[in-house]
Amino acid sequence: MDKTSFIIITVDGPAGAGKGTLAARLAQIYSLDFLDTGLLYRAVALKMLESGEDFNDKEAALRAVLLLNSDDLINPSLRNEAIGSGASIIAVFPEVRSALLAFQRNFASNPSPGKQGVILDGRDIGLVILPEAPCKIFVTASPEVRAERRLKELHQKKIYSTFELILEDMEERDTRDRMRKISPLRPAKDAFILDTTGLNLQDVVEKASFFVDSIYPQAHKNQ
Ligand code: DC
Repeated sequence: MDKTSFIIITVDGPAGAGKGTLAARLAQIYSLDFLDTGLLYRAVALKMLESGEDFNDKEAALRAVLLLNSDDLINPSLRNEAIGSGASIIAVFPEVRSALLAFQRNFASNPSPGKQGVILDGRDIGLVILPEAPCKIFVTASPEVRAERRLKELHQKKIYSTFELILEDMEERDTRDRMRKISPLRPAKDAFILDTTGLNLQDVVEKASFFVDSIYPQAHKNQ
């Protein structure tokens, strides 16, 4: 696989902007290996919760990072809202971030046979993890729209919550992710900013694919 045909796409953005859904769809269209990097932070938080640790305890977070293995990334409990908030708390520790950096870069440079490349979604992929990636997408949406989408998702899973609770949690998480000193959430200079407020999934995928095609015109596509 030569460098020009090897696709590397980064998808960053705040909680609930639709990056995971978009990244999964692009992975399918362009035959890419997909890593949802939020799962790494969530898996650390889940390990801490299971052993009764405080999310603010940096040493405990680092111990949990060292125990991580790829099986930890498929636990359905990772999607719980409490784990999402815990993940955002432990994500402020620079030592935790650097311990997870190698895993992410290693994933990006070793796609499975038959894949055209990789796609990673998270908060700092375009800016810190893979700054050389040619194709960077930053997905946003208004907090209200993101909270509404999250509420729908939870209702589908029969999890009870309210719009107000989700919006409050989301704004708290956004502030923490944007204000942290190391790798704060913000778009890379060369990122394509995709505001999904008022767009449906099909529109979002269309706009993103148009951008990917402009960077990788030779890419093979599955429709
Ligand atoms: O994308 P998510 O909701 O699964 O992420 C959970 C938290 O993990 C998020 O609030 C901040 C942290 N995170 C991060 O700091 N950097 C990433 N690349 C991915 C997630």
